[in-house]
Amino acid sequence: GSAVPSTPFASPAASASPAASASPASPSTSADPTTSFTPVFHVGHFVNAADTDPSVAANRSVVREVLGRVASSTLGVATIDAARVIDERRLDDRLGAPVAAADAWGSLSGAARGEVLHRIGEALEAHRADLIEVMASETGKTADQADPEVSEAVDFAHYYAELAAQLDDVDGAVAVPEKLTLVTPPWNFPVAIPAGSVLSALAAGSAVVLKPAGQAERCGALLAEIIKPVLPDADLLTLVQVEENGLGRQLIAHALVDRVILTGAYETAQLFRSFRADLPLLAETSGKNAIIVTPSADLDLAVKDVVHSAFGHAGQKCSAASLVILVGSVARSERFRHQLLDAASSLTVGWPSDARSQVGPVVEPAAGKLLDGLTKLGPGEKWLLEPKSLDGSGRLWSPGIRDGVTRGSEFHRTEYFGPVLGVMTAATLDEAIDLVNDVDFGLTSGLHSLDPAELQTWLDRVQAGNLYVNRGITGAIVRRQPFGGWKKSAVGPGTKAGGPNYLVGLTGWRSAPAVD
Ligand code: SER
Repeated sequence: GSAVPSTPFASPAASASPAASASPASPSTSADPTTSFTPVFHVGHFVNAADTDPSVAANRSVVREVLGRVASSTLGVATIDAARVIDERRLDDRLGAPVAAADAWGSLSGAARGEVLHRIGEALEAHRADLIEVMASETGKTADQADPEVSEAVDFAHYYAELAAQLDDVDGAVAVPEKLTLVTPPWNFPVAIPAGSVLSALAAGSAVVLKPAGQAERCGALLAEIIKPVLPDADLLTLVQVEENGLGRQLIAHALVDRVILTGAYETAQLFRSFRADLPLLAETSGKNAIIVTPSADLDLAVKDVVHSAFGHAGQKCSAASLVILVGSVARSERFRHQLLDAASSLTVGWPSDARSQVGPVVEPAAGKLLDGLTKLGPGEKWLLEPKSLDGSGRLWSPGIRDGVTRGSEFHRTEYFGPVLGVMTAATLDEAIDLVNDVDFGLTSGLHSLDPAELQTWLDRVQAGNLYVNRGITGAIVRRQPFGGWKKSAVGPGTKAGGPNYLVGLTGWRSAPAVD
């Protein structure tokens, strides 16, 4: 999951180049995509609809479908969709088709929908290399992170397929699918999270409008391109780009939209709610997550798990470890700090095109809060490892570790979403748990301890949705570790993605007719 630094309805201007706008139709036929591993993507959000349709120019609130062409090593060159422009007056028309498609889809048995989902899982697997490539080229995700992300998407497909079949067999109640679900995923898991959200809604019998994050439009476009041909009706999945907040608001507030599945910043969930007070919203939001290390821990294992959780995907995970809290003698001795410093310094930082890269770039040049987190120390803090900007891009940063983070400080409570970790200390486990709980969020939390009594104390008191013992705190596994937050890390019913209740929560219910 993710908190996103910009709102999902921000303009995609950062990725739209004027040159591309000028020649929107240029297909990628210059290279034969089937003979080259590196695919070339041309996705049609570069088309400026307002330039081509005078009726739209008069109304700046425009939903543009992603359109144009995708070339990839296994898909060949495929047209995503015809140019289509939607303005506010036509929103009703545009949403009518998916709602109509949902009638037939939702009246199928859950098992029949599940069969389709299993086939989608196979299609995603078949396009593993394409998905890894587009994640790398568009968002900077390194292959070691992107590869398991594809696995997670595939797992979602097969797991939700099984849950769909279970909807057919619930005592005393009949599932009544919702018609239309709007999915607004983040850029940091640009395949697994949209796939999970889209597939859960489809499994529950709904049609879906997918609005990828502005920084991950091509990932969303490729995902839709893979899923659509498997569906019995292409209108069950509609890909949109929302260019302006005005129309995003209209879409969220639209009476035909039965539900919104959001993964993003807590503030974005609040914004959505402000658009429509009674919005059926299922949102997984921000995190500020800690791993506690006690004197009974296997310190070598703890170092490995902290480093992996803090710096994997350059820390751009809502689940990432942003704090490590050292207890008692671990805090007093320098051993853990030395090992942590050694391990973090040994990571290879680089662009995803270099297969050795273990810490990739951040999605956009560091600015604002993230730049502060990478460059400014709070009172009493010092760098155990100072982050460095490694090239002129502003995106490639070596890992940072700040020591001496104090309770109630900015770094204690703020999500930074980048490769920077804070070290805190506590005299006792109880004090460490107080530090964990003294933040607004409660997404993931970790304990490294080999003492069962400590484990029980921590389980009884810690406030977070996903608890991990002697393991890293990122990379929840579908079915085994249902994923979702507590406190300000979730908005809505709080059902966990990849867990047994997820589809039930996306479905309406009525009493089953009495059987004699
Ligand atoms: N599911 C991801 C993880 O567990 C976060 O969205 O890291």
